Amino acid sequence: MSIVQQVQWFPGHMAKTRRKITEDLKLVDIVLELLDARIPASSSNPVLREIIRNKPRIVVLNKSDLADPKQTARWVAKYKAEGLCAVQVDSKTGKGLPALYRAIREELKEQIAGWERKGMSGRPIRVMVLGIPNVGKSSIINRMLIGGGAGRAEVRDKPGVTRQNRWFTIGKGFELLDTPGVLWPKFEDPAVGERLAFTGAVKDEILDIEGLAGRLLEVLSCLYPQSLEARYKLKLPEGPVAGHELLELVGRKRGMLVSGGGIDMERAAVTVLDEFRGGKLGAVSLEWT
Ligand code: G4P
Repeated sequence: MSIVQQVQWFPGHMAKTRRKITEDLKLVDIVLELLDARIPASSSNPVLREIIRNKPRIVVLNKSDLADPKQTARWVAKYKAEGLCAVQVDSKTGKGLPALYRAIREELKEQIAGWERKGMSGRPIRVMVLGIPNVGKSSIINRMLIGGGAGRAEVRDKPGVTRQNRWFTIGKGFELLDTPGVLWPKFEDPAVGERLAFTGAVKDEILDIEGLAGRLLEVLSCLYPQSLEARYKLKLPEGPVAGHELLELVGRKRGMLVSGGGIDMERAAVTVLDEFRGGKLGAVSLEWT
């Protein structure tokens, strides 16, 4: 069974999510679209543009600490060429957040000038975060709160807003909607599903772990052979090698044996996926532009 078949979002769930996002959008000035810097295209949802229409948007390439900086810079340039502002962020440490705040002000400079003309200078800029599961929405929100002075983070219900949305004050002049919009990942293309599974955006319980780790090793042996060799202290054979052979190689190198001398493939698979997701294989981008 392919990953595409293994993971399904129910149409009812999608419709509900979409309605919620559409409502929340009315409350904010700008949307932060969180993408995984290692797989910017696969972690985006093409329906987003349809949902947000003309609402200003900034692409946030999150988990940039785990991505290949050369590739991330190329993605930023690509978005810029398309007229979109993109900023790289590491939500674990907060790196990139000051640049993100600057980008938001720049993106909204006409609106801000308009507010000033109307005597509304100092009106806070209202922001919401959107992204697929596991892309780092909670992490960036928490980071923004810490940056805004966690202890002083103001959480309050706004008069006039009937729903129970709360606003966080995040640094000077910004308010953040407390609940991020959760977009569904797009699975029609098996390669996209696979990349989402590699990065952990898809739950492992429903996946064939050994097959997945094998495929990841195949991909890495093409894109970052030296990182693979360095991490597992092995020499990759010449030419293409099947995933299960690579996994066996890793298992053998790590001494992951079962009684009888065979390789504990499941343990090797879990190790490879964990180490990749934890950045132990170095800064790696699975989608190049
Ligand atoms: P979500 O709300 O969009 O579902 O994502 P969430 O913030 O829960 O983040 C999902 C995982 O990604 C978490 O790891 C989180 O720590 C990690 N993460 C988020 N942003 C970054 C980033 O910029 N860099 C790195 N390296 N990791 C990031 P976890 O293993 O599920 O949890 P934890 O043990 O790290 O807390």
